[in-house]
Amino acid sequence: MKNTVVVGAQFGDEGKAKITDLLATEADFIIRYQGGSNAGHTVVADGKKYAFHLIPSGILYENKVCMIGAGCVIKPDDLEKEINDVVAQGIKREYFEKYLKISPLAHITMKYHTDIDGCNETALGPNKIGTTKKGIGPTYADKYNRCGIRVEDLFNKELLSKKIDNILPKKNKELEFVYGLKPFTKEQILEECERYKSILEPYVDFNWQEKFFDYKKNKTILFEGAQGIMLDIDYGTYPFVTSSSPSAGGAAVGASMGPMVINRVLGVFKSYMTRVGEGAFVTELDDDTGEELRKIGGEYGVTTGRPRRCGWFDTVSAKYAIMVGGITEIALTKLDVLSNFDEIKLAVAYKNIETGDVTSNYPTNVFTHKNYVPVYETYKGWKTDISKCRTYKELPQNAKSYLKKLEEILGLKITIISVGPDREQTIIV
Ligand code: GDP
Ligand code: IMO
Ligand code: MG
Repeated sequence: MKNTVVVGAQFGDEGKAKITDLLATEADFIIRYQGGSNAGHTVVADGKKYAFHLIPSGILYENKVCMIGAGCVIKPDDLEKEINDVVAQGIKREYFEKYLKISPLAHITMKYHTDIDGCNETALGPNKIGTTKKGIGPTYADKYNRCGIRVEDLFNKELLSKKIDNILPKKNKELEFVYGLKPFTKEQILEECERYKSILEPYVDFNWQEKFFDYKKNKTILFEGAQGIMLDIDYGTYPFVTSSSPSAGGAAVGASMGPMVINRVLGVFKSYMTRVGEGAFVTELDDDTGEELRKIGGEYGVTTGRPRRCGWFDTVSAKYAIMVGGITEIALTKLDVLSNFDEIKLAVAYKNIETGDVTSNYPTNVFTHKNYVPVYETYKGWKTDISKCRTYKELPQNAKSYLKKLEEILGLKITIISVGPDREQTIIV
């Protein structure tokens, strides 16, 4: 396998983890390059369901090195819980100690970050972003404001103490006077950091540099993205986005390897669209069809349990995501969910209801999206269970026509088709 980036190409929850788990068989090293425990990644292997948030989805193979990369933000309590949950499902703790690695450069989400995230959302009222309240935005804001705490800082008491002396007076003012929250004492922060150090210590890889020289030359690398391009800080529906870069560009930076090591960018698209949180979603269906997609697709958030908003596949945003996200191939998931519908729609353009103009360019200002309605093309459904199909040939003709149309519009090959949550339920084209 070529070194591959697995990128979410819609609003997240496209089924990236299933695809990462599948491709991990052929990889030596799997690295998560951005995001934090806002992600909710489901892998179903041999009928057993696992939920990951920070741990790369390759971990189930128990012999692949899996790393939480420099571009990620880590809430150590969440990671501890996640490991405990997976261990409770039968994966040996020793495997994590042997194969799970953490970049010393990743940033720590402190309690004050989650406090601020919650407060920000409350303060925004009806204009809220609908974040996962995992402290993601405030952690990345501090990173870019050069006042974040990195994993490596936890292991240098003297420097950490100085860093906290610099950070805390300003942070406490922000907590008290901007958000009306309780300030922290230096002792509290030091105690929190000490606790985080003991959680992360077994996994932090201070010798990553020499390994990376070898990996880049001799190993097959799989880059696992979180969220999706329509939630990208630069290219998504700003400000209703996450605070990192899920695109392949983000992989080049967040995995500490640069762009030239990437050979393939696999964009993961769901056969319809979902979104959790706020922000416009042009093909959203507020009707029985939307409800049916949610019910059949099991569309509820892995991290927050929120019902996901559902709608038809939007080729306008898909083409945009392919361009800005650097996608070279498509993995299409949840095709089985569409088996229940008499008719399947594809949005092929947006119509401006004020001017009547029709465009296939994605309008980047999300606040204008209320002026657009999708222009649909309708295809006949196949109304047959396809969850047992394992080859392209076995798919019904109407499904093949739908796939061909998608490839034609998007200008890329669909090389993986997923017809169920399990590893086995996959067609490699
Ligand atoms: P991620 O965040 O992109 O990894 O996706 P999530 O795990 O949040 O959501 C995808 C959901 O769809 C999970 O419950 C998966 O088990 C499930 N899933 C993935 N691929 C398929 C598929 O082809 N068909 C069906 N029915 N479910 C799928
Ligand atoms: P995976 O990796 C779907 C959404 C939140 C909110 C916005 C900002 O499972 O695809 P944040 O907490 O990141 O500041 O929230 O982004 N969001 C996701 N939606 N899947 C995710 O991850 C998401 N991670 C964040 O709902 O709208
Ligand atoms: Mg998810």
